[in-house]
Amino acid sequence: MAGKSGSREEVIIVGGGIVGCAIAWHLSCRGRKSRILERQEPGGLATHAAAGILGPMNETDRPGPFLDLLRQSLSLYPPFVDALVEETGLSPDFTTSGILSVAPRPEDRPALKARFEWQSALDSSLVFCEAPEARALEPALTGTLDSAIYYPDEGHVYAPRLIKALLGALSRRRIPLEQGVSVTRIAPSGHGTLLVFDREGGCREAEKVVLAAGALLSDIEIPGTRVPVTPVSGQILAVRSPGSFYRRVVFYPPHGYFVPKLDGTVVIGATEETIGTRTRVTPAGLMEFLSPLSSLAPGLLELPLHHTWSGLRPKSPDALPILGPHPECPGLFLAGGHYRNGILLAPVTGEIMADWIEGGSPALSLPFLPDRFLKSRNG
Ligand code: GLY
Repeated sequence: MAGKSGSREEVIIVGGGIVGCAIAWHLSCRGRKSRILERQEPGGLATHAAAGILGPMNETDRPGPFLDLLRQSLSLYPPFVDALVEETGLSPDFTTSGILSVAPRPEDRPALKARFEWQSALDSSLVFCEAPEARALEPALTGTLDSAIYYPDEGHVYAPRLIKALLGALSRRRIPLEQGVSVTRIAPSGHGTLLVFDREGGCREAEKVVLAAGALLSDIEIPGTRVPVTPVSGQILAVRSPGSFYRRVVFYPPHGYFVPKLDGTVVIGATEETIGTRTRVTPAGLMEFLSPLSSLAPGLLELPLHHTWSGLRPKSPDALPILGPHPECPGLFLAGGHYRNGILLAPVTGEIMADWIEGGSPALSLPFLPDRFLKSRNG
């Protein structure tokens, strides 16, 4: 069977968010063509909503393969961004600003100290700061503060600008991105290729298919099952600061953060709500992460509100990514479940999936194979 446009594709990527676009870009860097199919706007569900934090050490409570994956992706950011800037002239405001993780009260200190012990054994650049040192690093911390860990090599990127640059690079590389295509099912064609069916009645054929559909991955029927990814909504907001006084990303308990962006806005987030694919902003949601600031960094609450929004994180049952081939359907690959770290993990996911598509089996991805969730059709 021919594709919708009468041709068979080498690779179809389902999903035009940061992950799908990064895979297409890495494939193109290796001379491989792909076509991206996107249901709505590229990056519409998660990428445009992301705070863009690049902070591996605050995204896990233990050493191991997940932290290795996060750190590897952080190390790929400078060349990734340099290449995009060179190709497009568009800057995604990437910065190694440093990140602080704070213990506001003395009773928060032992847990922070314990984290510092195991993390500083992995990275000797970390600094345990008493309150005055932490305040010198981040002037927004005028309130109650006991101590902090400083991560000097971590930072952030402006996610909407990152995907804009990536889309610009894909366009220059003549990688097609079709919008308005809702993929519903993938099935083997019977002669070594895959068929990609969409809600609009279309059917495309490809040698290889990568599912990178983010929070909507489980809507797609694949041989034997669906991928169990749950959308987790995050409410978030931005305030405008009058200058560039604020400099570091700060993580504060129980699960808040603020991110001073290079354009003078400060992004503050975020809730975690499992409410399906609905996105909404509520006063109660915003209070969850704004209330702790009244004692920690009260000045931020006096700044003019710029805007509020919410997005959908794609969470797998073990909250870890799903990366690699479908165990029983040759040619079908999954790149999903990036949950809180789609932006951070984009460069390493692009490399890993390009390796898989070229017939490799990248070691970093082996702990994250899809077969841990996909039931065998034979048992
Ligand atoms: N990466 C932070 C969040 O998902 O809220």
